[in-house]
Formats: sequence, C-alpha cells, structure tokens
Amino acid sequence: MPRLSAAARHRIGFTLNGKPVSVEAEPRLLATDALRHGIGATGTHVGCEHGVCGACTILIDGVPARACLTLAVQLEGREVTTVEGLAPAQDRLSVMQAAFRRHHALQCGFCTAGILISLEAFLREEPDPSEQALREVVGGHLCRCTGYTPIIAAALEAAAILRQPITTSTDAESAHV
Ligand code: FES
Ligand code: FES
Repeated sequence: MPRLSAAARHRIGFTLNGKPVSVEAEPRLLATDALRHGIGATGTHVGCEHGVCGACTILIDGVPARACLTLAVQLEGREVTTVEGLAPAQDRLSVMQAAFRRHHALQCGFCTAGILISLEAFLREEPDPSEQALREVVGGHLCRCTGYTPIIAAALEAAAILRQPITTSTDAESAHV
C-alpha cells in the first residue's frame, strides 16, 4: 500500500453490497465511521469500538471483520458487505433474516446486524452446523439483551432451509440468491 499523508484526506473506492462507492478519508478514519458517516450505511452498528462486542462486523472480500478495527483506507478495492446487502431484494428478507423474524431473535436489534453477518458467512462454510458450533459463532457477539436462545433457534432453522433444494417457497428462493 502506498504511504499516505496523515494530514490529508484520500479518496478511496470499494464495492459496497455490489455497488461501487467512494469516500474521502484521513488515514486514521475507521471503516465504521466511513460507512456510517461518509456513505450513510448506518446498518453497521458501533458498540465497544475496540473489537470485543461484534456489533460492527462486516464482510471484507467475504471474510468477517470488525469494522471498528479496520481503517477505511484498508477497504480500497475490496468487496464489502454490510447488513444492508444481505436481503436479496428490497421487499424480501434473506433466509436468515426471515428466520430471525419468526423466532423473535431481533430483540432490541442493536447487535443483530453483526450477528447476521457472522452467521451468514459461517453457513456458507458450514451448511450443516451443530448447535454448539453456532453458539461459538455468536459467542463473538455480546448481546446486551442476553437472549441467545432465539438467535440459535433461528440460525438452526435457516441452516435447515438453506440445505433444502430449490422450491417455489420464498425462503428457498432466497436461499439460492
Ligand atoms: S464496535 Fe466493533 S467490536 Fe464492538
Ligand atoms: S438484541 Fe439487543 S443487544 Fe443484542
């Protein structure tokens, strides 16, 4: 990466949820602030701001990352996915999001974006996870509502739906988007 002037703002470009975006950022600007304040993608939440709570989790080139530990300039040229990019269309939820709604797993919703990102990425790697494996994934997210039971139930149900072959149901269609 080229050496950047600390005092100057630099225009960085990356792909956000499938669309090219750009934002001006000083080298010290965090990815969370670039997303939320620079671009207006406020779905990514900020809790602890030091990598512990998981609320800010995004995908960078498909890999979960703490956006509060990532500098905005590190997004240059990357494929970034935030919670806004999980739904296959504006009027359709992803399979995981729909399962969260059915199981009341949103609760207050503050930590939900990060949990959805981590679970969706995990299911791509492990489509038939054990409950324990899912508990370990959400163990990287501190939920102040302390209601992990509906989150795990939703994740197990979403995994089961995603393993089904394509049908005409909304969920199964979404599973293959
Ligand atoms: S805000 Fe990034 S881990 Fe808590
Ligand atoms: S749902 Fe409220 S903090 Fe997790």
